[in-house]
Amino acid sequence: MRALARIDLAAIERNCAQLVRAVAPARLCAVVKADGYGHGAAPAARAAQEGGAGWLAVATAQEAVDLRAAGIAGPLLVMGALSACELTAVLRAHADVVAWREGFVAAVAGHPDGVGAGVHVKLDTGMGRLGTRDAGEATRTAAAVAAAPRLRLAGAMTHFATSDADPGFAREQLARFIAWADALRAVHGDLLLHAANSAAALAIPESRLGMVRCGIAAYGMDPFGDDPARHGLAPALDLRSYVAEVKPLAVGESVGYGRRFVAATPTWIGTLPIGYADGVRRALSNNCDVLIGGRRVPLVGTVSMDNLTVDLGRQPPQRDAEAVLIGAQGSERVLAEEWARRLGTINYEITCAISARVPRAYHRDGVLLDRADLNAAVRPGAAP
Ligand SMILES: Cc1ncc(COP(=O)(O)O)c(C=O)c1O
Repeated sequence: MRALARIDLAAIERNCAQLVRAVAPARLCAVVKADGYGHGAAPAARAAQEGGAGWLAVATAQEAVDLRAAGIAGPLLVMGALSACELTAVLRAHADVVAWREGFVAAVAGHPDGVGAGVHVKLDTGMGRLGTRDAGEATRTAAAVAAAPRLRLAGAMTHFATSDADPGFAREQLARFIAWADALRAVHGDLLLHAANSAAALAIPESRLGMVRCGIAAYGMDPFGDDPARHGLAPALDLRSYVAEVKPLAVGESVGYGRRFVAATPTWIGTLPIGYADGVRRALSNNCDVLIGGRRVPLVGTVSMDNLTVDLGRQPPQRDAEAVLIGAQGSERVLAEEWARRLGTINYEITCAISARVPRAYHRDGVLLDRADLNAAVRPGAAP
């Protein structure tokens, strides 16, 4: 394979089981938006459910539609804002929606596909994105849902801005949320409350409430950008290519666009047929290691669209040698977190950026799954 992302569904399942244990008695909602953070939404969703996730969440209407089309049943929340036609798609997919305005509730209540729709009311406690900052408006929105005979008031939620970096501000948000939600529960009974993302679920126990919404941790990445093993999590994805060409480089010769690597000593260069169009960001030029033959070799020169080059030193491996860009080989490993540090970004962006051009291969602890295995859990026509 020119380039391949291998996804270990057993790792996603174990990560979710670990989160379920850590947050109990709160429930786990696995966030599988953005194609499961690049891992494949439907296989990731199924593995998360097997690991004990009772809920799934996505950002967009199309993501909900795609999950249902893949046969994924069970409670599903669409967290994003919805246009009128997206609302139709979500309701037909029997997914819950998020509301923070009475007008939106009226649109759901009056929708021909709105019968039995679950609605979660969102208070913006400091993220400044979706939801209303006005607790009164949030309360009126919840009352409108409760008063609509065709709708279910399914939950109340908020989202933290800083749970990975500033738990103090997250706790302030939580306090605002609890003050509002307690009053809401006094009127509407035992509502499902949810606020925590992965960082909060792991580090702010009191934020777990009735349910946590975890994305990054389910995939075995560390929401704090460190080593996921600290939380008993293991990365589910590795990214591989191979050495398609090797050639000697004499002193003063260069490789790649812009001649950004010039050999100071005689060396061998390996070319891997994977590039920035696959998700290996160009800013990794001269700024990354690749695992080949069980050792780290530096990525040298400019990453181009379809190829990159590595400095193999004096002893080139065989052509066709496996190259691991993210993942482990022998006793060495490169985490998505390492790329994120080098790029000044977060691990989320690393796996989300692995493009559709890179095929995904699914396995469980190294045992490759074929399409039939992958679809085994799909019950055609299953009621969502
Ligand atoms: C509203 C909401 N909840 C939960 C999550 C999951 O966050 P994380 O991947 O940090 O667990 C996200 C992701 O960005 C989100 O937007």
